[in-house]
Amino acid sequence: MAIAALFAIGQAPVTSEAAGEDKLEVFSWWTSGGEAAALNGLFNIYKKQDPGVEIVNATVAGGGGSAARPVLQTRLAGGNPPDSWQTHPGWELLGQYVEPGYCEPITELYKSDGWDKAFPKELVANLMTKDRKIYAVLAGIHRGNVLWYNTKLLEKNGIKVGNRMTFDEFFATCDKLKAAGIPALGVGDSGIWASAELFENTLLGVIGPKGWSDLFTGAMQWDDPKVKEAMKLFAKMQNYVNPDHSAQSWDQAIKALMEGKVAFSSMGDWADGEFLKANMKEKADFGWVSHPGTDGSFIVVADGFTLAKGAPHKDAALAWLKMVGSKEAQEAFNTLKGSIPARTDVDRSKFDAYHQWSMDSFAKDKLVASCVHGEAAPAAFQQALNDAVTAFVTDKNVDNFANALVQAAKESQSTK
Ligand code: GAL
Repeated sequence: MAIAALFAIGQAPVTSEAAGEDKLEVFSWWTSGGEAAALNGLFNIYKKQDPGVEIVNATVAGGGGSAARPVLQTRLAGGNPPDSWQTHPGWELLGQYVEPGYCEPITELYKSDGWDKAFPKELVANLMTKDRKIYAVLAGIHRGNVLWYNTKLLEKNGIKVGNRMTFDEFFATCDKLKAAGIPALGVGDSGIWASAELFENTLLGVIGPKGWSDLFTGAMQWDDPKVKEAMKLFAKMQNYVNPDHSAQSWDQAIKALMEGKVAFSSMGDWADGEFLKANMKEKADFGWVSHPGTDGSFIVVADGFTLAKGAPHKDAALAWLKMVGSKEAQEAFNTLKGSIPARTDVDRSKFDAYHQWSMDSFAKDKLVASCVHGEAAPAAFQQALNDAVTAFVTDKNVDNFANALVQAAKESQSTK
């Protein structure tokens, strides 16, 4: 017995994988109904491919990842990384994870799996590459600037929404609903990012895609009259928001829309994942239009996965990433998540009307990177924006809002 045990120890493999600990730990904040269903869609494909590997689904609840990212940072700083984690491209990926050395490049997969032809080249080159090495694979691409509505509620109130909407049309609709005692705009900003997103969408609606790139390159200032105009519109919107917004999460706000308690919600198309999960019918039950003023632009909120440097289960992690980048996974995941496949060579016939609309928009519209979702600016600025929005929804002081962002932009410029 003792000899056998010793012998076993002598033969003991060094890696945890070979020790019978075939695991894969994937970290994300996908816990809402639609998010979890889509993530499971990926896990199911992985399980089919590698049935012997146990998946550890490490999630930290909280839309937009506001609660998850600090937990992840602590793990990374403590040398305890998950094998792979959800990330937005741009500043979040490159600034928070690649720069401090937490990620292993996966450039090879782009060659071996033909990804260099299948994924949008500019996105990969501009937002996911450092020193010619690529650090993530995209699972899907969300459109941030979508205004969702409850079709039946609008019909009941004699409101018709066309193919695009101006701010004037939007506010006229809000007044009509207000007169009928209905909060027009559903917001769930217990995670303040949801209000920041409403502002981001409104900002784009005023300054347009050219203004957007000027703002984030520093050619336009955050106290520019146009930015202030957007702030005023955002302040005006507060008059039509559900009174319990700060106690609600983003998906609770979408649920309220489904139940006809509010009419609209300005939210990225992860909201579509909630509609799908609840079996709501496109057009008949819910509809969508670009957030006012943003027709012709597409706010990119892309989701990718990384490979951890020192991943505890590297082979399993590589198999996971290969799977995420496959056509099969992109189709299975995005039909449930509301995003469109990042690959441009998928079978479009597998997707519903909303996805078709978003795919068309992605192909022809101006693409801009989201600030609220960590792509367009460093994490410190993203945080400053959230803080400034928190203050603004209460005090509605445009000058304070603008000055806080001017200051934050200056600070983040100096740390670049
Ligand atoms: C975004 C993410 C989406 C969705 C959303 C709400 O940051 O890119 O996939 O999960 O948050 O949680």
